[in-house]
Amino acid sequence: MTTAAMALAMTVTAQTATAACDDGEIVIKFSHVTNSDKHPKGIAATMLMERVNEEMDGKACMEVFPNSTLYNDDQVLEAMLQGDVQMAAPSLSKFEQFTKQFRIFDLPFMFKNIEAVDEFQNSETGQAMKASMTRRGLLGLEFWHNGMKQMSAKTPLLVPSDAAGLKFRVQNSDVLKAQMAAMGASPQPMAFSEVYGALQTGVVDGQENTWSNIYGQKFFEVQDGITETNHGIIDYLVVTGVDWWESLDADVRDQLATILTEVTTERNAAVGEVDAQARQAVLDAGSTIRELTGEQRQAWVDAMKPVWEQFQDDVGQENIDAAQAINA
Ligand code: LMR
Repeated sequence: MTTAAMALAMTVTAQTATAACDDGEIVIKFSHVTNSDKHPKGIAATMLMERVNEEMDGKACMEVFPNSTLYNDDQVLEAMLQGDVQMAAPSLSKFEQFTKQFRIFDLPFMFKNIEAVDEFQNSETGQAMKASMTRRGLLGLEFWHNGMKQMSAKTPLLVPSDAAGLKFRVQNSDVLKAQMAAMGASPQPMAFSEVYGALQTGVVDGQENTWSNIYGQKFFEVQDGITETNHGIIDYLVVTGVDWWESLDADVRDQLATILTEVTTERNAAVGEVDAQARQAVLDAGSTIRELTGEQRQAWVDAMKPVWEQFQDDVGQENIDAAQAINA
């Protein structure tokens, strides 16, 4: 390490040191909102931490704060710009205030499965999106997968008109608000950590999320079953602050980037398995899963897909075309 880098590392350590890290190590705080052992993001973050702490011992030290214990997703990107946290993996819906391009990932029925999302993200367009927020101080490092979204409410949902008049929690995204409004439902943006309580007390009637989130947060306990709509996706961007990333010595940065890429490849390949386990766990817990007939599914498509038009200019028709070509 150069003297300058060492001095910087010591400054960073002094600001954020905890018992787990040794003096002189660069402290990397990774904040996220899910559990750490049964969730694609939680498992990947834990694996990243273990590898960094083993392979970069003496140089860097990672601490993971799961379950919104440090920040929720609405706060974490601001905290990152302030230098209070160095890594996070918010869902792609949470980047809306930084770049409208990411709205493509929230458009309902845009991707037929996570393999299609993977292919789009690995295309030139997808890769360029990782750097689309650098002028706002954020750098995307890797995309992490979760899964397809399902819908649930306090009453059974089989066709979109069943959702009319109900209040649905959404992530704070204009696309998701429009999607709920398209069904005659009322969208209620809310932090992930507040959803269970809001469903339980009737502040909201329903929600949309992936199997691992429905299981991990126990949403099924306070809903009348889950409807397998597969209408959208939740995926993540592992993000860091441009200033912090550039402050790292090249060898430290390269080693960290390599470990992150390897963890990403391994965990993204396993995401289908985690998703299936979570779905089964919801069933085993006694919840009802409603599968749709072709006709019922088409009714959801017909209700939701018109929102594409509202966001076409933000997202770019060429990107929509590229995503659709992958589905074909
Ligand atoms: C949500 O807010 O519903 C999800 O983005 C939470 C997560 O990180 O999976």
